[in-house]
Amino acid sequence: MTHEERVPVQTTGNNMSSYEEARSHFDWKQVEQTFSWHHTGKVNAAYEAIDRHVEAGKGNKTALIYSDAVREERYTFLQLKEKSNQFGNVLRKLGVSKGDRVFVFMPRTPELYVSVLGTIKIGAIIGPLFEAFMEAAVKDRLENSEAVALVTTPALLERVPVDALPHLKHIILVGAVGELVEGYYSFEEEMSQASSDLDIEWVDREDPMIIHYTSGSTGKPKGVLHVHNAMIQHYQTGKWVLDLQDDDIYWCTADPGWVTGTSYGIFAPWLNGVTNVVRGGRFSPDDWYQTLEKYKVTVWYSAPTAFRMLMSAGESVVKKYDLSSVRHVLSVGEPLNPEVVRWGLKTYGKRIHDNWWMTETGGILISNYPQMEIKPGSMGKPFPGIHAAIIDDEGNELPPYTMGNLAIRTPWPSMMRQIWKNPEKYQEYFRIPGWYVSGDSAYMDEDGYFWFQGRLDDVINTSGERVGPFEVESKLVEHHAVAEAGVIGKPDAIRGEIIKAFIALREGYEPSEELKEEIRQFVKTRLAAHAAPREIEFRDKLPKTRSGKIMRRVLKAWELGLPTGDLSTMED
Ligand code: WTA
Repeated sequence: MTHEERVPVQTTGNNMSSYEEARSHFDWKQVEQTFSWHHTGKVNAAYEAIDRHVEAGKGNKTALIYSDAVREERYTFLQLKEKSNQFGNVLRKLGVSKGDRVFVFMPRTPELYVSVLGTIKIGAIIGPLFEAFMEAAVKDRLENSEAVALVTTPALLERVPVDALPHLKHIILVGAVGELVEGYYSFEEEMSQASSDLDIEWVDREDPMIIHYTSGSTGKPKGVLHVHNAMIQHYQTGKWVLDLQDDDIYWCTADPGWVTGTSYGIFAPWLNGVTNVVRGGRFSPDDWYQTLEKYKVTVWYSAPTAFRMLMSAGESVVKKYDLSSVRHVLSVGEPLNPEVVRWGLKTYGKRIHDNWWMTETGGILISNYPQMEIKPGSMGKPFPGIHAAIIDDEGNELPPYTMGNLAIRTPWPSMMRQIWKNPEKYQEYFRIPGWYVSGDSAYMDEDGYFWFQGRLDDVINTSGERVGPFEVESKLVEHHAVAEAGVIGKPDAIRGEIIKAFIALREGYEPSEELKEEIRQFVKTRLAAHAAPREIEFRDKLPKTRSGKIMRRVLKAWELGLPTGDLSTMED
């Protein structure tokens, strides 16, 4: 296993002198000194992201460029400061206070960003929900977090089972028309009445800031909690990985319903005082290239599935646009095929910088840096200040080219601090003393580059979105025709993996294409479109352990035509 291929440095980067030097001198405490709070101890990440720049005289600088099919708007740092202040006052008026959970469930719009910032400013905990979630997914998350307020739209409200959520007292509707009953408020009206001066809630750096629900291989989605202190990592990775500078126009294509859309779609760019582009609506190659061209984007952070889709759209689409503003391109969320890196070089003339992290890690931990040669297929090297290693199950660090658990020495600034109301789940990640165990397997080469190998559990990564098979299986068995269901990730050239369900039908039901489609729609309309199985296969019986657990490992082996391995725990 040697990796001969190298992509040489193109630009040396702006903020980091050299990787080795940055690593040898690195101290998180020095990063803190960028912020005024390092001596007061009290902090608010939304203040640091927005208000601080206004105080530094950058109030008139564009903070947000928003566009979708019908809107195109720009907001300065001063405007975002005032709007988020107003929203903070709206929440306060409703009695929302520090530590309360406030959720946003809406499309990517300026109102979403204002809501996130305003919530954080009053010390409440923000919980972003992906707009594609359907009722069951919304309910699980609002129930577990005991959210007291929700910002949503009239259209999405249909998917919020308000009556089944006793803690949810306030619903703030963006774009509501007509009279609203008690407990429901118009975002626009409340905002217009709210003062743009706000008494910011100064909190401790270890106070909670944001909850992201994410999937594991078992159980319901887990609420991964991050604290204000994470901003240190967002800020510094923004500098050294995204290579952000003052005059950059930055575009992160991720939705804030996923962690990349907050850590790198909100915090990293704004903590660095950079102009942030948000494009609403769905993916389309023309639309995306137009966005790069029109706003003269300089730094572009996206994901392998998107790059693969752009690749399959072909070079002729690329040629229609002037992409010369683009200086730095990055990718995260799933393995970035060497082929895509080569294509990026050929077509954009740019290196695509892969990096690795997780919802739980809060920020980038392993990356390719502008100053470094890229080895296509590798996720790069640990961020300065981060000790990553491949370890065995006892915590011994393994030598180069040995596959094992990808693990990180604890702690680091943006490490999750809790799984909401589930301390046992939290502890599982830290079961090997001194280490965070990621659940990914990888190896390191002799130059210290890390190479992703796969998940060690059954979590599915489809188009870069994490889906727990258990959530999908639970929904499938609610369908009247389904007796048993087992769900796996099936390798796919574009999406990385697609969701495949193996289903045993109840008596009296016959397999048919119509039934497949009905079951697919059932999951799509009740859980989420991205969680619906693209493929369904009916089987008379599913492989189970003697205790009745479906053996996904065997399903996967069937699918891939591989040996099924040890079947001693299987029933019959
Ligand atoms: C996978 C997204 C290969 C990995 C920020 C991880 C990757 C999971 C990479 C986290 C990469 C992330 N190469 N695989 N560069 N980056 N992954 O929580 O399996 O949505 O554990 O966070 O995505 O997904 P999550």
